[in-house]
Amino acid sequence: MRTQVAIVGAGPAGLLLSHLLHLRGIESVVLEARSREYVEHRVRAGVLEQGTVDTLVESGAGERLLREGLVHHGIELRFGGQRHRIAFEKLVPGRAITVYGQQEVVKDLIAARLAAGGQILFEVDDVVPEEIEGPRPQVSFTHRSQPLALQADFIAGCDGFHGVCRDAIPPGVLQFFDKEYPFGWLGALAAVAPSSDELIYASNDRGFALHSMRSPQLSRFYLQVAPDEDIEAWPDERIWAELAARLETVPGWNLATGPVVEKGITAMRSFVAEPMQFGRLFLAGDAAHIVPPTGAKGLNLAAFDVTVLTEAFAAWYSSGDAALLDGYSRACLRRVWRAQHFSWWMTTLLHSFDSYDAYDRRLQQSYRDYVCTSEAASTSLAENYVGLGRR
Ligand code: FAD
Ligand code: DHB
Repeated sequence: MRTQVAIVGAGPAGLLLSHLLHLRGIESVVLEARSREYVEHRVRAGVLEQGTVDTLVESGAGERLLREGLVHHGIELRFGGQRHRIAFEKLVPGRAITVYGQQEVVKDLIAARLAAGGQILFEVDDVVPEEIEGPRPQVSFTHRSQPLALQADFIAGCDGFHGVCRDAIPPGVLQFFDKEYPFGWLGALAAVAPSSDELIYASNDRGFALHSMRSPQLSRFYLQVAPDEDIEAWPDERIWAELAARLETVPGWNLATGPVVEKGITAMRSFVAEPMQFGRLFLAGDAAHIVPPTGAKGLNLAAFDVTVLTEAFAAWYSSGDAALLDGYSRACLRRVWRAQHFSWWMTTLLHSFDSYDAYDRRLQQSYRDYVCTSEAASTSLAENYVGLGRR
């Protein structure tokens, strides 16, 4: 088998890359370890920055997103018995976020690729990027028990944090930056109308809680829990009781409850691998970097990486110019580190840390107060949250 760009992973990064390359007349084949059914139903992120929405819409894959996505012009912070709205329309005029589930983005991109005759091989095994230092890299893999090799000009490692592409880079080349947090997030999807028009980021002595949504009938919640917490210890009644204890902290606000349709626990960490390229292998999205979800940046960073990579491949194929490919990592890492800082900062602002002493808690309180009372501080939060310019 031969193609121009071999893409490992059919998450948002790999699928969007394949779609954008197609629009530039560049061929690719996507290799995915899981089934189509699995990737289309994997519940993850839900907040799209304006730049991500624009990329999807301009690429022709945003029709359903425009119809069903929920455009939000603010978020609420809730702590100390008070609510504070971060008003995007006032602080960052003309910019907003769209709430639309990651698995819906994945469905839309798969449909777009298949409609255009694109090749996505699901349920492949034993994926190994090979010969990445030379001009003829290839990916070997097994599909339906058959050993195969996909030859290409380039390999895009879009296989997420637990993928194999990053590890295919020889030891000593990459530098890793890593931070683990002493908690995880329990995520729950519930068949109940949202109790709020906008997202609520709440925190009290019991910890952090987030009220998000997917549609007028579907709500999405997150709870800070211990990092090694077992989901079996969280029957639905306990989830609702804990959400109520952390969210019903302002007068007159009540949480509506309903059947939980999906739940799971995610560990939280920050991670960056630098550079995001070696030879003919380019890493994009979670394969190169992950952030704690508090700032809702993971999916948006993945989308940004692949728009940069598309431009770089397009320049190389049209004129043989490798300057953008050589600058790929640098161009992405600037934004990656801004998102790393913002995600760490939001996480620190909003979670309870067992390690905090009385002094640390006062500092956190003071910063929360500052964010809620200073327009400069709220603007800083808002401009990072809605996403900085596309470049
Ligand atoms: P992924 O979506 O991870 O896609 C990688 C793809 O590669 C997957 O389909 C995987 O099956 C495939 N793959 C892996 N290994 C191989 C292999 N060896 N061969 C072939 N294919 C392979 N972000 C938020 O902003 N908010 C959230 O609430 C949130 N929740 C999350 C919950 C979880 C459990 C996780 C893991 C992440 C969450 N994120 C969240 C982050 C966000 O979902 C990611 O940043 C986003 O999915 C990155 O997209 P990606 O395409 O780079 O990677
Ligand atoms: C969602 C996830 C996030 O990480 C976040 O910060 C906001 C919303 C969500 O899944 O809806």
